[in-house]
Amino acid sequence: MSDIVPTPTPSRLGVVGAGYVGLTTGACLAHLGHEVVCADVDADRVEQLRRGQIPIVEEGLSEIVVAELASGRLSFELGAEAAATDTDVVFLCVPTPQGADGGADLRYIEAAATQIAPVLKPGALVVNKSTVPVGSTKVVEDVLQRNDVAVVSNPEFLREGTAVHDFLHPDRVVIGSDDRAAGERLADVYAPLQAPILITDPASAETIKYAANGFLAMKISFVNAISAMCEAVGASVDDVVEGIGSDARIGRSFLRPGPGWGGSCFPKDSKALVKIAADYGYDFTMMKGVIDVNEEQKRRMVAKVREAVGVGPGLRLTGTKVGVLGLTFKAGTDDLRDSPSVTMVQSLVAAGATVRAFDPTVEVAPTGPKAQLLAGVELCADPLSAATGAAVLVIATEWPEFAKLDLDALAGVLVPGSAVVDTRNLLDPAAVRAAGLRYDGVGRR
Ligand code: NAD
Ligand code: UGA
Repeated sequence: MSDIVPTPTPSRLGVVGAGYVGLTTGACLAHLGHEVVCADVDADRVEQLRRGQIPIVEEGLSEIVVAELASGRLSFELGAEAAATDTDVVFLCVPTPQGADGGADLRYIEAAATQIAPVLKPGALVVNKSTVPVGSTKVVEDVLQRNDVAVVSNPEFLREGTAVHDFLHPDRVVIGSDDRAAGERLADVYAPLQAPILITDPASAETIKYAANGFLAMKISFVNAISAMCEAVGASVDDVVEGIGSDARIGRSFLRPGPGWGGSCFPKDSKALVKIAADYGYDFTMMKGVIDVNEEQKRRMVAKVREAVGVGPGLRLTGTKVGVLGLTFKAGTDDLRDSPSVTMVQSLVAAGATVRAFDPTVEVAPTGPKAQLLAGVELCADPLSAATGAAVLVIATEWPEFAKLDLDALAGVLVPGSAVVDTRNLLDPAAVRAAGLRYDGVGRR
């Protein structure tokens, strides 16, 4: 982060929503030298943040929030209005969950716009950073009803777990605006990042965000489909990925086979992309296929668990003990939203299995939404407890500590001859077998 040169022209900025995107945006913009008011509707969250406590797991974020609270450049307030009072640029970073029809639900965006409309300064800039369908810049303009305020699109490409790094070192910043001066004003806010800035029209910016997520999901679905093929023909997906990834036109990134992609964005954004295309008369069959492969990959992981314990599809798993390591949708985050691991454990619990699970970011006695998602799962304090007495152990999230587990100790607590179903290809199959366990990975011989 030392390569960031603070802005010589600080602005007073507002951020609406202090979640993964809003909190990262607010903290990092303060780190760039701007004065930032970050607002949320969740009073507990605001109180916590004022004390410098971070409600999410995100590497490096705590340090920046604490430093910028101390510098006086970052403050937290309750209610969207506070972010728009006396600020020059207001970033909307509220959720856009999947609606009943598969498209993005804009109710939080509309509510936030309604709340800030009466207090926005004349000449202010409103920035749509949430992931929103084509046409949403106009939706915000219509809600605001403020001719003296410009609205621009500015999709965010950060990943959870590396959000701070991604925000401060973006491959590009995309700004969608029909008003060039408004786009350039926002570009000035990002100037200290010294990143390439692409200013386009709003529809292109909004499409870029969905196309980027759709393309990345497509790469993963492709490699997951190849992993199924490797299992059928007796090939090794590790070698196939090495062989195709070394072609510079293909590249190695986003070609890790796994239990299917999940998280708060790919699942909803891939469906929203299909819906946006359909709304404009295009049947995006390719994207539908990408989603189908993902659903199939998740089912394949459950089938591997069943195969490991010799219980066929459709039969009850009553009396079967399954140990699960990892519940988050990927390593480095505490986010369980649309996690393939959670889908899998829910399916196993519904079939009657006894599931004992460990995740470094999930408490043994979770409360609220986490407790609901994990109903019926016994949460354990460490990997060995989750494995104790199990007939099959599933590696569901690629937490680095799982790669370093003492396999002999694991074999000592599992039922003798148990299988390890490694949905992340994290372990060395030979080492697992040497410990007296069976091994099944993804696309591995
Ligand atoms: P989140 O659920 O973590 O955070 C959203 C926050 O907004 C919550 O704290 C909520 O209380 C607050 N909020 C809701 N309505 C509000 C209002 N009217 N006023 C003030 N605060 C309000 O969501 P997120 O993961 O940060 O995602 C936000 C948007 O960014 C979504 O559109 C998402 O698709 C997009 N996005 C997310 C990521 C990611 O990695 N999570 C990356 C890129 C883009
Ligand atoms: C993703 C995108 O990478 C971000 O650019 C984007 O901003 C964000 O969505 C968003 O719009 O919210 P994120 O969901 O945080 O970021 O996580 P990723 O690292 O992209 O992983 C998504 C899913 O794909 C995870 O389930 C992960 O395990 C899986 N994955 C990823 C694979 O199975 N294989 C891979 O090679 C890479």
